[in-house]
Amino acid sequence: MLSRAVAVINGKGGVGKTSLTANLSGLIAAAGYRVLAIDLDPQGNLARDLGYKNTPENDDGLALFSAVTTGQQLRPVTGVRDGLDVVCGGGRIAEMVGALHSRTARGVATATAVRDAVAPIAENYDLLLIDCPPGEQQLQQMALTAAEFALIPTKSDSASLDGLVKVAELFGAVRATTNPDLQLLGVVLFGIGASAKRIAQDARAAVARDLGTADLVFDARIRHVEGAAVNTRDLGRLVHEIEAELPQAQKTRLAALRSRRAGGKHRADDDGGAPRLAASASGLAEDYAALAQEVTTRIAAMSGVTA
Ligand SMILES: Nc1ncnc2c1ncn2[C@@H]1O[C@H](COP(=O)(O)OP(=O)(O)OP(=O)(O)O)[C@@H](O)[C@H]1O
Ligand SMILES: [Mg+2]
Repeated sequence: MLSRAVAVINGKGGVGKTSLTANLSGLIAAAGYRVLAIDLDPQGNLARDLGYKNTPENDDGLALFSAVTTGQQLRPVTGVRDGLDVVCGGGRIAEMVGALHSRTARGVATATAVRDAVAPIAENYDLLLIDCPPGEQQLQQMALTAAEFALIPTKSDSASLDGLVKVAELFGAVRATTNPDLQLLGVVLFGIGASAKRIAQDARAAVARDLGTADLVFDARIRHVEGAAVNTRDLGRLVHEIEAELPQAQKTRLAALRSRRAGGKHRADDDGGAPRLAASASGLAEDYAALAQEVTTRIAAMSGVTA
């Protein structure tokens, strides 16, 4: 187990795993922690949220593939933000699973592969966040075997809440076999709409039923904001970064208006898209900041405490 490593996990797709990994990593790094984000998903979506998708640094998962299959030293991409390094995901992660399958056939244990690849550099970081893929059980098992904590995002619809039982099963199976020190950090309600109160109550009941206690549900929830979410991913910038740009965006809009009045050609939407987010980014940024606070507090209280 790697101390202070958090697997952001839910076998269900589209419940906010990548958005949480990206925004928590960026925010916590901005607060002065040294953070490593590990993208264990062949989709490689973390690269979009953090904006390194189309850069030469994006190795599509090659660094992790090489470290796992040849024992080569794992080299993260450094300085994706101040204090934030990244191990890239992408197509090579799927190849890595293929390579590990043939090892399994030879009777070599593979659940510990990611843990062992990351272990030599883990000491360089105060926090490690692992973005897990949906569906791919072997990768999820590797993530939970590497982690000290599981952080489970869920949406609040009944299908998502019913899906929690599956994560609970996997969590229990890993604790019973490859990682007895694994702890449940908590459950984050993601994409919560207007009728939040009743939904949050239902969610707490489902979490209590499947995971043993409702106390694990974080008070901070991530609200549903369609436009902002899509745009941050397209822009490769995090919610708090968009929010920080808003005053500048407002100035740009004003400048555009003035220039139009003066007969200029400056267009109001020539601003990288930030003003479109003005209405929604602040609330969402507040949600992420509150969650980052709760997450770091809980980790400080629980890290090294074996249940
Ligand atoms: N606050 C939000 N409100 C509404 N939609 C959001 C919000 N944040 C992100 N989204 C959108 O929700 C979708 C799923 O988010 P995300 O990719 O983080 O989930 P995921 O669990 O990582 O998905 P996958 O299982 O495919 O890896 C994305 O299209 C994203 O743009
Ligand atoms: Mg994802």
